[in-house]
Amino acid sequence: MALCDWKTLHGDVFTGCRCVVTGGAGFIGSHLAEALLQLGAEIVVLDDLSRGDRGNVDALASMGVGAFRFVHGSITDEAAVDEAIDGAAFVFHQAAWGSVPGSVDDPAGYFAVNERGTMNVLQAARNAGVARVMFAASSSAYGDTEVLPKVETMPVLARSPYAANKAAGEAMLRAWANSYGATGGRGDLDTVSLRYFNIFGPRQNANSAYAAVIAAFAKALLNGRRPVVFGDGEQSRDFTFVDNAVHANLLAARADAPLGGEVINIACGRAVTVNELASHMAAQLDRPDLVPEYRDERAGDVKHSLADLGKAERLIGYRPIVGFEAGLSATVAWYRQQHAAAV
Ligand SMILES: NC(=O)c1ccc[n+]([C@@H]2O[C@H](COP(=O)([O-])OP(=O)(O)OC[C@H]3O[C@@H](n4cnc5c(N)ncnc54)[C@H](O)[C@@H]3O)[C@@H](O)[C@H]2O)c1
Repeated sequence: MALCDWKTLHGDVFTGCRCVVTGGAGFIGSHLAEALLQLGAEIVVLDDLSRGDRGNVDALASMGVGAFRFVHGSITDEAAVDEAIDGAAFVFHQAAWGSVPGSVDDPAGYFAVNERGTMNVLQAARNAGVARVMFAASSSAYGDTEVLPKVETMPVLARSPYAANKAAGEAMLRAWANSYGATGGRGDLDTVSLRYFNIFGPRQNANSAYAAVIAAFAKALLNGRRPVVFGDGEQSRDFTFVDNAVHANLLAARADAPLGGEVINIACGRAVTVNELASHMAAQLDRPDLVPEYRDERAGDVKHSLADLGKAERLIGYRPIVGFEAGLSATVAWYRQQHAAAV
């Protein structure tokens, strides 16, 4: 499924290494678990299947490389988290409720999973002697700042409960590294927050009411409907193919020096407007006639988003490995194939 060869990029660093992927039944987590299995790691996926797909777990279990175990449980359940993380070297914490408008509707539910759940993961990692926790942070922490590109030194300006959850997660990751880690604490736990910018790719859920824009556009176009755009479509995003997020996680785990809870942008480094995206996708799916239908802007959405990637390169040697067009073609092809298989 990946557009790159993980073995060539990461060699045998993860061979036989026990790694936990929380949220591994979901979109990004399943790609990460798949890459780690291809690299010969021992994988434990912890997921409650509240938003992920059982089919992703079955596909991982049947890959026939590395060793795979699925813990069906919630990050809100301390015992399940302890069981999954016991004996692990690395934790890739991807589990979360991930919708901006969803969090505006249900802030308490989002708090319980995204903040309390993240603390449970950190506590379990600390108790289990984990070397490093990688956290799926979000570019939503930047809020609607006019300044582009977004650099990690800018203030956190959360515009939604989801963004606040993710910012709180970053703060916890830093605090745990400093309190219980190699960077000044009393233990060996290291942590890092990877601020993802609009990750897309095969397996991203197109069926949720809060589906990410590329997944939602693909579903609409393949069903002969006009894609729905919230606002005037001139909002821009740094759309990032999922292999880039996987690569960043693997680089972060491999980093020699402690990362001490640093926050690092992970993106493609290019701004594309939602209108451009819609016309690209309509052309690729041979439906240029399906022009967007415009609706009111959504609460909590930001206008522009583009990452500065200097810190990612400095700290973990990250540069995007798959560009926007190549990633979009592969993704559109995957949605087309899924659609054909379903009819
Ligand atoms: N997709 C993006 O563009 C993007 C951008 C920024 C940050 N992120 C973050 O990356 C991570 C992965 O996102 P995704 O797009 O793959 O989402 P996803 O919904 O496909 O995956 C999340 C997974 O977490 C699981 N999960 C939810 N609540 C859980 C709980 N209480 N216990 C255990 N598992 C639980 C879900 O079942 C699902 O499998 C999330 O933390 C998200 O906030 C994603």
